Amino acid sequence: MESQDKNTTQRLPETHRRIILFPLPFQGHINPMFQLANILHIQGFKITIIHTQYNSPNHSSYPQFHFRAIEDRFSEVDHLRSTNRDPSYYIKYLNRSCEDPFKDCLTELLDEEPVACLIADAMFYFTQAVADELKLPRMVLRTSSLGCAIGYGAIPFSSKEGRFNLTKQGTGRVVGKKIGFPYDPDPGYEAFVPEYPLLKGKDMLKIAINPEGYGDLVTNMLKQMKASSGLIWNTFKELEEPELETINQDFRVPSFTLGPFHKYFPASSSSLINQDRNIISWLDTQPPKSVIYTSFGSVARIKDVEFQEVAYALENTSSPFLWVVRPGMVLGSEWVESLPEKFLERVGRDRGRIVKWCPQQEVLAHPATGCFWTHSGWNSTLESICEGVPMICSPCFADQPIVARYVNDVWKIGILLEDGFERVGIQIAIKRIMTGNEAEAMRARVSRLKEKVNVSLDEGGFSNRSLKSLLDYISSFKPVKFTVC
Ligand code: UDX
Repeated sequence: MESQDKNTTQRLPETHRRIILFPLPFQGHINPMFQLANILHIQGFKITIIHTQYNSPNHSSYPQFHFRAIEDRFSEVDHLRSTNRDPSYYIKYLNRSCEDPFKDCLTELLDEEPVACLIADAMFYFTQAVADELKLPRMVLRTSSLGCAIGYGAIPFSSKEGRFNLTKQGTGRVVGKKIGFPYDPDPGYEAFVPEYPLLKGKDMLKIAINPEGYGDLVTNMLKQMKASSGLIWNTFKELEEPELETINQDFRVPSFTLGPFHKYFPASSSSLINQDRNIISWLDTQPPKSVIYTSFGSVARIKDVEFQEVAYALENTSSPFLWVVRPGMVLGSEWVESLPEKFLERVGRDRGRIVKWCPQQEVLAHPATGCFWTHSGWNSTLESICEGVPMICSPCFADQPIVARYVNDVWKIGILLEDGFERVGIQIAIKRIMTGNEAEAMRARVSRLKEKVNVSLDEGGFSNRSLKSLLDYISSFKPVKFTVC
């Protein structure tokens, strides 16, 4: 991808102020935190990144930053990940296991030199109490959308307080039967959620395998976001204007929407997995806007029957495709063992490629890419919008069902696969998004958003002004330094 030469390509004089950042150790959280670190570094701040040993970044790729690793004891539970698919379990575990080592590390750093503030991932909610104790301002990076934060605040995760009367789609009448969380498939499955009518019952089933556990995580995260000194969002106002107004009213701490972060630089380099770059020369051989790019992000896992439906759907369309199958993505498989027999032979290497990981931003920016079949992770969604690529959405968990509804219902720049991984529905969606008037309308809408991104990041645009406000805000903090007794 070409450098966008936006706000920060010119390195400004060092302010000699240090900022400490603490990313959640998962790809979709590491990428935006490192992008933010780069943005702040180019603006003259010194950067220290405290990180867990789990998914440790490669220090040599970032000579401009200082790093401190802390013990996380994550290996004690990581082996459970193949059987326990509830992400809230692991994130809550990290919040407990990191607390003491993080506090010790932060105390040592404050003893070394003055620090302007801490910027922690919102899901590391424990850091607010530590920052309060050390009297250090804590800002929060929330790596998903504003709409997702509003949705998380509205959804009653607890079945005790959250029994829903579901309004049946289309009829506007209240169904007498009360349905708890997770919803029974009938009749709540297709009904809108009264507390958050963008979502249907079936979306709720996807958000969390363990709603009570996920609800605890979300409650803690939102509470400690509200207690922070300010919120940094990887989004742009033109995409989520009403949501920004709601967030400003609800959270009462300053919000800075200076995204999309990845547009400040050439393609991001914080990938934990090696990106297969050979794929770019294959894309060069494909006609413009012809390739279906398929990837379900860094964490989502699908069943082997779902994987096979994806394969049959791709095979049955006439379009070329690039399919990212991350090792371990298919439950019970190392990699692509459960592909239908002779799939690769039937498809042929000219028409379809499967890789383990790719340089996604470059793939989306490539003229041959026609649509992105995605799990609706927030980074992937932003990256697709920035390249004007319409999306087919197969959300798997957490914020993804909310993001997918925004893509389908609010921005109308993609198609949500309402019936999950089912080959006929997928084939219909591919046809709708690749050809005809509906496809053109979606492409026109996403192209307009792409233009708005560029305006927002340009001098005087909203994201550009938001960055400047953030810099002023951080500069207004009195640097903290103390001596350990
Ligand atoms: C998850 C959630 O789904 C997301 O919404 C949340 O905000 C963060 O955690 P993840 O599954 O990793 O994230 O998806 P996503 O947010 O889309 O991030 C994936 C990142 O990996 C993107 O930046 C993408 O460019 C990168 N990627 C993906 C690659 O570099 N190569 C690939 O082949 C696939």
